[in-house]
Amino acid sequence: MATIADVRQRPHERTDRWWIEPIFIVTVLGLFGIYAFVVSVMNNNYFHDPYLSPFYSPCLTTGCIHPTFPIIGNWYNLSPAFLIVGSPLAFRVTCYYYRRSYYRAFFWSPPACSVPDARAKYSGETRFPFILQNIHRYALYLAVLVLAVLWWDVILAFNFDSHFGIGLGSLIMLANVVLLSGYTFGCHAARYLVGGYLDSFHGKSLRFRLWEFATMLNEHHSRWAWFSLFSVMLTDLYIRLNAAGVIVDPRWVLR
Ligand code: FES
Repeated sequence: MATIADVRQRPHERTDRWWIEPIFIVTVLGLFGIYAFVVSVMNNNYFHDPYLSPFYSPCLTTGCIHPTFPIIGNWYNLSPAFLIVGSPLAFRVTCYYYRRSYYRAFFWSPPACSVPDARAKYSGETRFPFILQNIHRYALYLAVLVLAVLWWDVILAFNFDSHFGIGLGSLIMLANVVLLSGYTFGCHAARYLVGGYLDSFHGKSLRFRLWEFATMLNEHHSRWAWFSLFSVMLTDLYIRLNAAGVIVDPRWVLR
């Protein structure tokens, strides 16, 4: 494997600091991966009434502090986060934008535009495991289901012991799910699904409006991807710090 110094010495016409972007992506995705793994293994502090961490939603076991759909019994004694992590993980890992980013940052294939690949051979996504990237549209279907549950969690986040209220946690969860929706519905596969495959929108005004909406989101897909990644992490951190008693959630409740 070539080092970054080797690649920088190969002939190309880039004179700018092209290597900043791959380093940034390695750092951010690496830190997010470590954070997600650690909080998933911890199996605690993921619920602070009425807030549920997005890393643990939907909570599918009877052993959850706050079960959403308790369809799995007490025989399951690992972290409930492991049961659902596959869906968002598959969606992000196979996302066209993230593929571009991590192929550049982690595989240097290529590291940047007009910079040679670190490897001599290139087989694209025609072989295992990269051929599995084709599951992206199916990962989208699962992601939409999980997103619906996260919207339900947000509604519950305004319910304080059967009283309507607004807490800082409610607003953080709302912002998180808005960002996740922008990321999900701006997906290239979603845009194709709502009308991208049609030759003509004649007589299909609803489809055209949905396609226009998806296109508007899609134009900034990379931003939705990054902001929603940060918001998931910050939402979990906020709930976790409250559940651990480190901070106190400011809230207003209508009684
Ligand atoms: S292309 Fe990025 S989520 Fe589908």
